[in-house]
Amino acid sequence: MAVLVVGGAGYIGSHAAHVLRRKGYDVIIYDDLSTGHKTLADGFDLVIGDIADSAKIAKLLSRCDAVMHFAAHAYVGESVQNPKKYFHNNVTAALTLLDTVMESRVRKFIFSSTCAVYGNPVKVPITEENPRQPVNPYGATKLAFENALEAYGRAYGLRFVSFRYFNAAGADENGKVGELHAPETHLIPLIFQAAQGKRAAVDIFGDDYPTADGTCIRDYIHVTDLAEAHVLGLEYLSKGESTAVNLGSGDGYSVKQVVAAVERITGRKVPTHITARRPGDPPELVADPALAEKLLKWKAKRSLDDIISTAWKWAQQSAH
Ligand code: UFG
Repeated sequence: MAVLVVGGAGYIGSHAAHVLRRKGYDVIIYDDLSTGHKTLADGFDLVIGDIADSAKIAKLLSRCDAVMHFAAHAYVGESVQNPKKYFHNNVTAALTLLDTVMESRVRKFIFSSTCAVYGNPVKVPITEENPRQPVNPYGATKLAFENALEAYGRAYGLRFVSFRYFNAAGADENGKVGELHAPETHLIPLIFQAAQGKRAAVDIFGDDYPTADGTCIRDYIHVTDLAEAHVLGLEYLSKGESTAVNLGSGDGYSVKQVVAAVERITGRKVPTHITARRPGDPPELVADPALAEKLLKWKAKRSLDDIISTAWKWAQQSAH
């Protein structure tokens, strides 16, 4: 079985490509390299192109059985400043991709959605029943695409899985792929930069939240666990069903707990600096992962310590 991994030179897509190959799937990576990195697609069949380039994608689809779509802009803050960029790419161009798929014989589609579709959850842990009320344009674009998948599923027989990722983190154990964001805005890589002396300190965005230590709680999920869920998603699609499921560990850690874990695992001191809250950050986002376990037999296997130790190994490789 061959899978077109759209956005496969990015952080999560490249991990999915590696896991797919390990499980015996043929993989074609499609990426415009706007935020992806050629090095993350090393050793794969890489086609460089835009997701709205129907002719180019149609040709590749004739050789594929399924599509995984990772190619999206994913900075919450930037989406507030520049919503046009987000709606244009994550909705308009992504719908062109979806329509190209519908014109092919491929009917299996896996989509990278996000817990940002829930906005401020009414209840934590968050189940898939939580109302989808995004509080930023990034989440709104992901919800729009989820809605399109649901309608296309009903009307045209598309089979899809929307995976709502919680906080993707960590790096593959083989050391070949890891997180490469420019600019880097994610907590764990920024903590490492402070540990390595590449920045004076890591900012802690608010310590006055209604949580045990006052800092925000998130559900950090190892990127290889996410990647493995995608392979199980393909198997699920073969049953002819569609779904939207959370991918999280079910365990929440505060910013201060993550800093402490990094200090313990790396043996380095992490200078911190308490700043104001970052607008739009809910105090606590933790998944209820029961549906993914029930439908896909998927469960996070890797702990926060595994996330930090694999990511630390990756961060220390001088090439990056
Ligand atoms: N944080 C800091 N200091 C930093 C960076 C982050 O204290 O320098 C805190 C944040 O306030 C948050 C936590 O660390 O509480 C994690 O922040 P990240 O920026 O690493 O991740 P987010 O939770 O903001 O973002 C993730 C995904 C998004 C998704 C969002 C849903 O990366 O794609 O969850 O809320 F949209």
